[in-house]
Amino acid sequence: MFDQIFGNVIQPMPCTVDVDTAGLRADNIPRHIAIIMDGNGRWAKAQGKVRTYGHKAGAETLKTIVRAANDLGVKIITAYAFSTENWKRPVTEIHFIMELLSRYLTNEIQDFHDNNVQVRFMGSREGLPGVICQKMDYATEVTKDNTGLILNLAINYGGRAEILHAVKGIAARIQDGSLSADAIDASVFEDNLYSRGLPDPDLLIRTGGDQRISNFLLWQIAYAEMWTTKVCWPDFTPAMLVEAIASFQKRERRFGGLIQK
Ligand code: FPP
Repeated sequence: MFDQIFGNVIQPMPCTVDVDTAGLRADNIPRHIAIIMDGNGRWAKAQGKVRTYGHKAGAETLKTIVRAANDLGVKIITAYAFSTENWKRPVTEIHFIMELLSRYLTNEIQDFHDNNVQVRFMGSREGLPGVICQKMDYATEVTKDNTGLILNLAINYGGRAEILHAVKGIAARIQDGSLSADAIDASVFEDNLYSRGLPDPDLLIRTGGDQRISNFLLWQIAYAEMWTTKVCWPDFTPAMLVEAIASFQKRERRFGGLIQK
Protein backbone atom coordinates (compact mmCIF):
# COMPACT_ATOMS: atom_id res chain seq x y z
CA MET A 1 0.00 0.00 0.00
CA PHE A 2 2.72 2.45 1.08
CA ASP A 3 4.93 1.46 -1.86
CA GLN A 4 1.98 1.66 -4.26
CA ILE A 5 1.30 5.25 -3.31
CA PHE A 6 4.79 6.57 -2.75
CA GLY A 7 7.41 4.11 -3.98
CA ASN A 8 10.22 2.92 -1.78
CA VAL A 9 12.85 5.52 -2.56
CA ILE A 10 13.62 8.46 -0.28
CA GLN A 11 15.92 11.02 -1.83
CA PRO A 12 19.43 11.62 -0.38
CA MET A 13 19.97 14.51 2.04
CA PRO A 14 19.88 17.60 -0.18
CA CYS A 15 20.85 21.27 0.17
CA THR A 16 23.30 23.24 2.18
CA VAL A 17 23.24 26.74 3.68
CA ASP A 18 26.31 28.77 4.49
CA VAL A 19 26.04 30.96 7.60
CA ASP A 20 28.47 33.46 6.06
CA THR A 21 26.19 34.08 3.11
CA ALA A 22 22.87 33.85 4.97
CA GLY A 23 23.12 37.27 6.64
CA LEU A 24 23.28 35.72 10.12
CA ARG A 25 25.71 36.33 12.96
CA ALA A 26 27.75 33.19 13.46
CA ASP A 27 28.23 33.99 17.17
CA ASN A 28 24.50 33.89 17.99
CA ILE A 29 23.11 30.80 16.30
CA PRO A 30 20.51 29.11 18.53
CA ARG A 31 22.12 26.01 19.96
CA HIS A 32 18.88 24.05 20.22
CA ILE A 33 15.83 24.51 17.97
CA ALA A 34 12.54 22.73 18.71
CA ILE A 35 10.10 22.31 15.85
CA ILE A 36 6.35 21.64 15.76
CA MET A 37 5.99 20.36 12.21
CA ASP A 38 2.34 21.24 11.73
CA GLY A 39 0.16 21.49 8.63
CA ASN A 40 1.06 18.31 6.78
CA GLY A 41 -2.55 17.21 6.41
CA ARG A 42 -3.80 20.61 5.26
CA TRP A 43 -0.92 20.89 2.80
CA ALA A 44 -1.91 17.58 1.22
CA LYS A 45 -5.63 18.37 1.22
CA ALA A 46 -4.98 21.70 -0.51
CA GLN A 47 -3.49 19.70 -3.36
CA GLY A 48 -6.40 17.27 -3.47
CA LYS A 49 -4.23 14.52 -1.99
CA VAL A 50 -4.70 12.24 1.04
CA ARG A 51 -3.43 13.61 4.39
CA THR A 52 -0.73 10.95 4.57
CA TYR A 53 0.85 12.38 1.44
CA GLY A 54 1.60 15.44 3.56
CA HIS A 55 3.33 13.35 6.24
CA LYS A 56 5.55 11.77 3.60
CA ALA A 57 6.45 15.22 2.26
CA GLY A 58 6.98 16.43 5.83
CA ALA A 59 9.49 13.67 6.49
CA GLU A 60 11.48 14.87 3.45
CA THR A 61 11.32 18.44 4.71
CA LEU A 62 12.74 17.38 8.06
CA LYS A 63 15.76 15.89 6.33
CA THR A 64 16.34 19.08 4.36
CA ILE A 65 16.03 21.24 7.48
CA VAL A 66 18.34 19.02 9.54
CA ARG A 67 20.99 19.34 6.89
CA ALA A 68 20.55 23.13 6.65
CA ALA A 69 20.57 23.54 10.44
CA ASN A 70 23.74 21.48 10.70
CA ASP A 71 25.38 23.69 8.09
CA LEU A 72 24.31 26.81 9.98
CA GLY A 73 25.88 25.59 13.21
CA VAL A 74 22.73 24.57 15.11
CA LYS A 75 23.68 21.80 17.53
CA ILE A 76 20.32 20.19 18.34
CA ILE A 77 16.98 19.87 16.57
CA THR A 78 14.08 18.41 18.55
CA ALA A 79 11.22 17.60 16.17
CA TYR A 80 7.69 16.62 17.21
CA ALA A 81 7.01 13.57 15.02
CA PHE A 82 4.21 11.86 16.96
CA SER A 83 2.46 13.04 20.10
CA THR A 84 0.74 11.03 22.84
CA GLU A 85 -2.47 12.71 21.63
CA ASN A 86 -1.96 11.62 17.99
CA TRP A 87 -3.30 8.16 18.91
CA LYS A 88 -6.77 9.81 18.64
CA ARG A 89 -6.36 9.99 14.85
CA PRO A 90 -7.95 7.49 12.45
CA VAL A 91 -6.21 4.15 12.72
CA THR A 92 -5.22 4.23 9.04
CA GLU A 93 -3.34 7.52 9.55
CA ILE A 94 -1.61 6.16 12.67
CA HIS A 95 -0.53 3.06 10.77
CA PHE A 96 0.77 5.20 7.97
CA ILE A 97 2.83 7.42 10.27
CA MET A 98 4.27 4.32 12.00
CA GLU A 99 5.15 2.82 8.64
CA LEU A 100 6.70 6.10 7.55
CA LEU A 101 8.73 6.25 10.75
CA SER A 102 9.82 2.68 10.35
CA ARG A 103 11.02 3.30 6.82
CA TYR A 104 12.60 6.61 7.78
CA LEU A 105 14.56 4.88 10.50
CA THR A 106 15.76 2.26 8.04
CA ASN A 107 16.42 4.41 4.99
CA GLU A 108 17.74 7.61 6.54
CA ILE A 109 20.05 6.32 9.21
CA GLN A 110 23.01 5.78 6.87
CA ASP A 111 22.52 9.24 5.39
CA PHE A 112 22.34 10.87 8.85
CA HIS A 113 25.35 8.81 9.93
CA ASP A 114 27.34 9.86 6.83
CA ASN A 115 26.55 13.48 7.73
CA ASN A 116 27.79 12.98 11.32
CA VAL A 117 24.25 13.47 12.72
CA GLN A 118 23.54 11.84 16.09
CA VAL A 119 19.99 10.51 16.29
CA ARG A 120 18.15 10.36 19.61
CA PHE A 121 14.55 9.88 20.69
CA MET A 122 12.32 11.20 23.41
CA GLY A 123 8.93 9.86 24.45
CA SER A 124 7.26 6.78 25.85
CA ARG A 125 7.79 3.34 24.34
CA GLU A 126 4.34 2.26 25.56
CA GLY A 127 2.07 1.38 22.65
CA LEU A 128 4.76 1.74 20.00
CA PRO A 129 5.23 -1.23 17.65
CA GLY A 130 8.21 -3.39 18.69
CA VAL A 131 9.85 -3.00 15.30
CA ILE A 132 9.91 0.80 15.69
CA CYS A 133 11.49 0.47 19.15
CA GLN A 134 14.16 -1.86 17.74
CA LYS A 135 14.94 0.58 14.94
CA MET A 136 15.08 3.47 17.42
CA ASP A 137 17.61 1.51 19.50
CA TYR A 138 19.62 0.66 16.40
CA ALA A 139 19.66 4.27 15.15
CA THR A 140 20.72 5.52 18.60
CA GLU A 141 23.50 2.95 18.83
CA VAL A 142 24.87 3.44 15.30
CA THR A 143 25.02 7.23 15.54
CA LYS A 144 25.90 7.63 19.23
CA ASP A 145 29.50 8.73 18.66
CA ASN A 146 28.69 11.24 15.92
CA THR A 147 29.74 14.76 16.80
CA GLY A 148 27.54 16.81 14.44
CA LEU A 149 23.97 17.94 14.95
CA ILE A 150 21.80 15.94 17.38
CA LEU A 151 18.45 15.08 15.82
CA ASN A 152 16.15 14.40 18.76
CA LEU A 153 12.90 12.90 17.49
CA ALA A 154 9.91 13.21 19.81
CA ILE A 155 7.89 10.06 19.20
CA ASN A 156 4.89 9.13 21.34
CA TYR A 157 5.79 12.24 23.28
CA GLY A 158 3.67 14.53 25.45
CA GLY A 159 4.97 17.21 27.80
CA ARG A 160 2.54 16.34 30.59
CA ALA A 161 3.28 12.61 30.27
CA GLU A 162 6.99 13.43 30.43
CA ILE A 163 6.53 15.43 33.63
CA LEU A 164 4.50 12.59 35.19
CA HIS A 165 7.19 10.12 34.14
CA ALA A 166 9.83 12.30 35.86
CA VAL A 167 7.72 12.64 39.01
CA LYS A 168 7.27 8.85 39.18
CA GLY A 169 11.02 8.31 38.72
CA ILE A 170 11.78 10.71 41.55
CA ALA A 171 9.06 9.24 43.79
CA ALA A 172 10.51 5.74 43.29
CA ARG A 173 13.92 6.98 44.39
CA ILE A 174 12.47 8.60 47.49
CA GLN A 175 10.62 5.37 48.25
CA ASP A 176 13.76 3.24 47.95
CA GLY A 177 15.69 5.74 50.07
CA SER A 178 18.25 6.75 47.43
CA LEU A 179 16.97 10.34 47.31
CA SER A 180 15.59 12.67 49.97
CA ALA A 181 12.70 15.02 49.15
CA ASP A 182 14.83 17.99 50.22
CA ALA A 183 17.40 17.16 47.55
CA ILE A 184 14.92 17.63 44.68
CA ASP A 185 15.92 20.63 42.60
CA ALA A 186 15.72 21.61 38.92
CA SER A 187 18.76 19.54 38.08
CA VAL A 188 17.37 16.37 39.74
CA PHE A 189 14.07 16.96 37.94
CA GLU A 190 15.78 17.47 34.56
CA ASP A 191 17.75 14.26 35.05
CA ASN A 192 14.42 12.44 35.06
CA LEU A 193 13.09 14.03 31.87
CA TYR A 194 13.42 12.36 28.46
CA SER A 195 15.59 15.32 27.44
CA ARG A 196 18.18 14.45 30.10
CA GLY A 197 21.58 15.81 29.18
CA LEU A 198 20.32 18.24 26.51
CA PRO A 199 20.21 22.00 27.01
CA ASP A 200 16.80 23.70 26.76
CA PRO A 201 15.64 24.86 23.32
CA ASP A 202 16.56 28.47 22.51
CA LEU A 203 14.08 28.76 19.66
CA LEU A 204 10.71 27.08 19.10
CA ILE A 205 9.44 27.05 15.52
CA ARG A 206 5.83 26.18 14.73
CA THR A 207 4.56 25.91 11.16
CA GLY A 208 0.96 25.65 9.97
CA GLY A 209 -0.44 28.91 11.37
CA ASP A 210 -1.47 27.94 14.91
CA GLN A 211 -0.04 29.77 17.90
CA ARG A 212 0.03 27.10 20.57
CA ILE A 213 2.41 24.75 22.36
CA SER A 214 0.39 21.53 21.93
CA ASN A 215 1.92 19.78 24.95
CA PHE A 216 5.47 20.04 23.54
CA LEU A 217 8.46 20.35 25.90
CA LEU A 218 6.44 22.06 28.63
CA TRP A 219 9.33 22.20 31.09
CA GLN A 220 12.10 22.84 28.58
CA ILE A 221 10.65 25.79 26.63
CA ALA A 222 10.29 28.05 29.68
CA TYR A 223 12.56 30.66 28.08
CA ALA A 224 12.52 29.61 24.41
CA GLU A 225 11.90 32.31 21.83
CA MET A 226 8.92 31.47 19.60
CA TRP A 227 8.70 31.88 15.86
CA THR A 228 5.59 30.86 13.97
CA THR A 229 4.62 30.86 10.32
CA LYS A 230 1.45 30.15 8.37
CA VAL A 231 3.51 28.06 5.97
CA CYS A 232 2.69 24.35 6.28
CA TRP A 233 5.59 22.12 7.23
CA PRO A 234 6.13 20.44 3.83
CA ASP A 235 6.68 23.92 2.33
CA PHE A 236 9.13 25.02 5.04
CA THR A 237 12.51 25.80 3.48
CA PRO A 238 16.10 26.45 4.62
CA ALA A 239 15.49 30.13 3.74
CA MET A 240 12.63 30.18 6.28
CA LEU A 241 14.91 28.59 8.86
CA VAL A 242 17.36 31.43 8.21
CA GLU A 243 14.45 33.89 8.63
CA ALA A 244 13.52 32.31 11.99
CA ILE A 245 17.12 32.46 13.20
CA ALA A 246 17.46 36.08 12.00
CA SER A 247 14.38 36.93 14.06
CA PHE A 248 15.88 35.09 17.05
CA GLN A 249 19.06 37.13 16.69
CA LYS A 250 17.08 40.38 17.01
CA ARG A 251 15.51 39.33 20.32
CA GLU A 252 16.79 40.44 23.71
CA ARG A 253 16.77 37.40 25.99
CA ARG A 254 16.58 38.36 29.63
CA PHE A 255 15.59 35.09 31.35
CA GLY A 256 13.62 37.11 33.87
CA GLY A 257 16.57 39.40 34.68
CA LEU A 258 17.75 42.75 33.35
CA ILE A 259 20.11 43.37 30.48
CA GLN A 260 23.53 44.63 31.57
CA LYS A 261 24.27 47.90 29.74
C1 FPP B 1 1.26 17.60 12.07
O1 FPP B 1 0.55 17.74 10.89
C2 FPP B 1 2.22 16.56 11.94
C3 FPP B 1 2.19 15.37 12.59
C4 FPP B 1 1.11 14.94 13.50
C5 FPP B 1 3.18 14.37 12.37
C6 FPP B 1 4.49 14.90 11.91
C7 FPP B 1 5.08 13.84 11.12
C8 FPP B 1 5.95 14.02 10.12
C9 FPP B 1 6.55 15.28 9.72
C10 FPP B 1 6.34 12.89 9.36
C11 FPP B 1 6.89 11.79 10.14
C12 FPP B 1 8.18 12.13 10.69
C13 FPP B 1 9.22 11.37 10.53
C14 FPP B 1 10.47 11.73 11.22
C15 FPP B 1 9.22 10.19 9.68
P1 FPP B 1 -1.00 17.53 10.92
O2 FPP B 1 -1.30 16.16 10.44
O3 FPP B 1 -1.52 17.83 12.28
O4 FPP B 1 -1.46 18.57 9.88
P2 FPP B 1 -2.80 19.41 9.93
O5 FPP B 1 -2.69 20.38 11.06
O6 FPP B 1 -2.81 20.07 8.60
O7 FPP B 1 -3.93 18.44 10.10
